Amino acid sequence: MNVTTRPALLDIEAIRAEFPILQQQVRGRTLVFLDSAASAQKPRAVIGAMVQAMETQYANVHRGLHWMSERTTEAYEGTRDAVARLLNAPDRHEIVFTRNSTEAINLVAHSYGRGVLRPGQAVVISEMEHHSNLVPWQMLRDAHGIELRVAPVTDAGELDMAALEALLADGKVGLVAITHMSNVLGSYTPAERIAALAHAHGARVLFDGSQAIVHRRVDVQALDADFYAFTGHKLYGPTGIGVLWARRELLEAMPPFMGGGDMISSVTWERSTWAEVPHKFEAGTPAIIEAIGLGAAIGFVESVGYEAIAAHEAALTEHALARLSAIAGVHVLGRAQDRGGVVSFTLDRAHAHDVATLLDRQGIAVRAGHHCAEPLMRRLGVDSTARASFGIYTTQAEIDALAESLLRVREFFA
Ligand code: ALA
Repeated sequence: MNVTTRPALLDIEAIRAEFPILQQQVRGRTLVFLDSAASAQKPRAVIGAMVQAMETQYANVHRGLHWMSERTTEAYEGTRDAVARLLNAPDRHEIVFTRNSTEAINLVAHSYGRGVLRPGQAVVISEMEHHSNLVPWQMLRDAHGIELRVAPVTDAGELDMAALEALLADGKVGLVAITHMSNVLGSYTPAERIAALAHAHGARVLFDGSQAIVHRRVDVQALDADFYAFTGHKLYGPTGIGVLWARRELLEAMPPFMGGGDMISSVTWERSTWAEVPHKFEAGTPAIIEAIGLGAAIGFVESVGYEAIAAHEAALTEHALARLSAIAGVHVLGRAQDRGGVVSFTLDRAHAHDVATLLDRQGIAVRAGHHCAEPLMRRLGVDSTARASFGIYTTQAEIDALAESLLRVREFFA
């Protein structure tokens, strides 16, 4: 596919043709996949890069002095360059490969949390965090004596910036760790303003970019972030590979997270010394093939272009909000001004699991449940929602199919 010169709106049929799975029939119907926020489908470029690496140039990385290992190391390290380019990171050594966003955030909680934050300092999260940006901080609180503060969301589903500022006022906050886009409400958070506020009060800032980076360009220098975490599998790449970006001076000040091979400089019985960053944080044989797949996914996203992706998804989201809100009995959660392609909803008299099951019978895949954000569910006064989420390959016709199927689901529960 040649998409390098594509104008602002993308060629949806050409994009869909790159995703073999979308041609599948499910329950006798063409698959309508509206669960990309949980995990996105994979384009041929990703599948092909992984297969080709295993068929033609596979060996362990950083260890061998032979041709295969050199080629594999080049490909693996090539993804580090691709990630640095994607994030506009100033230094490729600031890219640490992890298993996923969860591991990236745990790395920060463990290493920066225990190594740099002092007991009595506070970490601020928000009410709309995924458990992956909540539970590690609870664990740090219990193990290390930091205070955990929670910035509220407004009834519209936006981060309450005035409340955040009040939480920072006493100067005790060492780190603000906040999602860049809610996986439940679709709300973006004003990352630049959050970073400026955190820095003005002497705190560092971490963004969980698992959802945001799929939908819009992320520039860690423009955001003035200190840490940025994301996962490969939502960005059309494979599972098992994620990224932590952090400023080099922070990574250098942090102790390793895990010990083992590849992360050392020297080892004696008495002591070990650490490899330079980022290798200090990449113990053991890494997810080599998955990293190569992530490199291909980044190439794919860049070839389509974030401008086209964002324009396409903004149109889809507007269409979905209009179609779903027009159905009596359907309630869309959140009305943030700045929101992306994730729409959670409830249906009167129906549990979200039943809604998802009935939609599935019509070939439509949505997620239902608490979306790994139980405290947010309680804040919103629900125990679960159904959630439709969009990707680069989603069409307006699929959203229409969801709306029409929801009418049938509503009749079932009437
Ligand atoms: N974090 C993923 C989601 O929101 C799994 O669905």
